Amino acid sequence: MKKKKIGILTSGGDAPGMNPTIRAVVRMATSNGIEVVGINKGYSGLFNKDFTNLTGNGVCNIISRGGTILKTARCMEMMTLEGQILAANTCKDLDIDTLVVIGGDGSLTGGLKLKEQGINIIGIPGTIDLDLKCSEYTIGFDTAVNTAVSAIDKLRDTSLSHERCSIVEVMGRRAGHIAIWSGIGGGADDIIIHEEGMLDVDKLSERLRKNRLLGKSHNLIVVCEGITDCQKLAKSIEKNTGIITRATILGHLQRGGSPTALDRVIGSRMGRKAVELYLENNKNVIVIYKAGKIDFIDLEKGINFETTYTGRLAKTVRLLSL
Ligand code: ADP
Ligand code: F6P
Repeated sequence: MKKKKIGILTSGGDAPGMNPTIRAVVRMATSNGIEVVGINKGYSGLFNKDFTNLTGNGVCNIISRGGTILKTARCMEMMTLEGQILAANTCKDLDIDTLVVIGGDGSLTGGLKLKEQGINIIGIPGTIDLDLKCSEYTIGFDTAVNTAVSAIDKLRDTSLSHERCSIVEVMGRRAGHIAIWSGIGGGADDIIIHEEGMLDVDKLSERLRKNRLLGKSHNLIVVCEGITDCQKLAKSIEKNTGIITRATILGHLQRGGSPTALDRVIGSRMGRKAVELYLENNKNVIVIYKAGKIDFIDLEKGINFETTYTGRLAKTVRLLSL
């Protein structure tokens, strides 16, 4: 009988917890007699024929490591139909009957394109941004938020000592989850996120002035990347309020570091589920986290999933400010 063989890749921005996920997929697969081929550097590995055979032993000691042992990339060849056909043909040449894709919405959309070329895809949400709407959790989010909160704690010390306003820019692409969670967890006075529309600097300055009148001696504002130039925002706040303001951009720090227990556990559970779905002959699905359970959804449905922004968590930041 032909031996079962699956491929696995990590794609898009790396996320802490990708390694525990790879480990779980490989261990579950190999203990069920399935061969695993690692495709290096995201979809690029399919174009460059860059592969690694993964064994149960080969994934020892990666559970605590950030980044991804398979490396990752943003691969432009995948954006064209010719590229997608080429990539699918490489999967067929490799004789893999399923490709496990760990990544964000872009990477899983790439998976959907390969599905259209006859490749069975099992997606696992892996991105610090938590922006895959069909899943209530994406691997890497908790580690990134904890990194942001510990940076905010440090900024609080200096901001308080100088009685300044600190602006902290966090990642998230166009999703405000990291900003909201680190804003609540870091005790910020305000958060600025894409979901709430245009930033009104005058209103923000007014809120800061009121805050100071209530006796607050320093301020912390968390801003999601891509909204404004935070150095310029600091200057405008300083001009409007007279409060000395400094901006810090956390950047790629948020993508690194050893995964938290939550990212290791969810990654391990999602990796296990991916192989279970494969063994049960489920085709073209995304493993998701929903209402406290590891579940799955159809690939296409998952990618096109829509949710509405409620603003409830953002409100929490402001309600709990002085
Ligand atoms: P993420 O997966 O974190 O959202 P990206 O959006 O950068 O990250 O996507 C990662 C990679 O997935 C891209 O570089 C590309 O190789 C592939 N990809 C993204 N969008 C598409 C698409 N519409 N069609 C085909 N492949 C895509
Ligand atoms: O998707 C993860 C993420 O870190 C986003 O938060 C950010 O916008 C983007 O990737 C940065 O990408 P790059 O590493 O290519 O600069």
